[in-house]
Amino acid sequence: MAAPGDNFSSPTAESLHRKTGSRKTAPKDYKKKKKPKPKPVTEVRVDRSVISKLHVLNKELDTVRSDQSLSQGTKQARVNKLETEIQKMGGLDAYQAASKRGACCHGNTTTSNWVIKQLKKFKVKPASEIKRLRLLDVGALDNHYHRHGWLDCTAIDLNPQTDRVTKADFFHYQVEEGQEYDVVVLSLVINFVGDPKKRGDMLRHCCHVTKENGHLFVVLPLPCLSNSRYLTHQLFCDMLHSLGFQKLRCHDSKRLSFFMFQRIGKRRSKSFPKQVVRTGPNHNNFSIVL
Ligand SMILES: C[S@@+](CC[C@H](N)C(=O)[O-])C[C@H]1O[C@@H](n2cnc3c(N)ncnc32)[C@H](O)[C@@H]1O
Repeated sequence: MAAPGDNFSSPTAESLHRKTGSRKTAPKDYKKKKKPKPKPVTEVRVDRSVISKLHVLNKELDTVRSDQSLSQGTKQARVNKLETEIQKMGGLDAYQAASKRGACCHGNTTTSNWVIKQLKKFKVKPASEIKRLRLLDVGALDNHYHRHGWLDCTAIDLNPQTDRVTKADFFHYQVEEGQEYDVVVLSLVINFVGDPKKRGDMLRHCCHVTKENGHLFVVLPLPCLSNSRYLTHQLFCDMLHSLGFQKLRCHDSKRLSFFMFQRIGKRRSKSFPKQVVRTGPNHNNFSIVL
């Protein structure tokens, strides 16, 4: 999922969790040196390439759309060109199919398992199923919470892959006052958005859909925080804190960062521009602007 400006192969559920097979070592008495065979183009590699290319194109699309220096005609021509390229690759369907192949191994289930575990641990899970918790899963490949009777899950995605998911763009997803969700989950969605400002808007919108004292779960690829030139775990938590979310729990797996926040409501208007927080080579350019 590399976006050109990010200089970062932003992993998906698929690339994050799939393990490669262990390499077999040749027996010691093996005399003849065999010519190394070219690696087969496996399904995994094809999937990674699809995901990565679509992220690049997505980011370019966002950059062109927000470029004020372009004339309307040039902008439209570039947008059309990029959209045609995306369609040629199979569009969001191809991206999601590739993500889903990985998610069915570990991806989304990893997130839903962690969410369920924390909701139980922090005693957010209701004692009875009479009053179910309303959960919004944003950017859902499937409804991974439907088996839990104490959860009433609404799963949304730009391009649903099953009828258990509702078609909706989170940026335009409105909830009426008093209908905010008890739990909101954004797993590997923020890094899907190409524009750092729009990533910030996505976080900001979480305030409108999460009820007071409700819980927000965010999952990001670990390098977005651990190796970014512009972002750290602490800075990310500071951003959320300024939006009125208090960190309850953070856990890093080998490739993912999981966060659980609680909406305490008190927002402090603070801006977070793009600023270098890690110097030196080999960092990626992932950022969030608030
Ligand atoms: C990498 S997949 C993540 C899937 C799953 N949540 C997981 O953790 O494996 C990103 C998904 O987010 C969806 N998405 C991106 N932007 C969105 C938006 N603004 N509103 C709703 N869904 C969005 C994409 O369509 C895609 O299916």
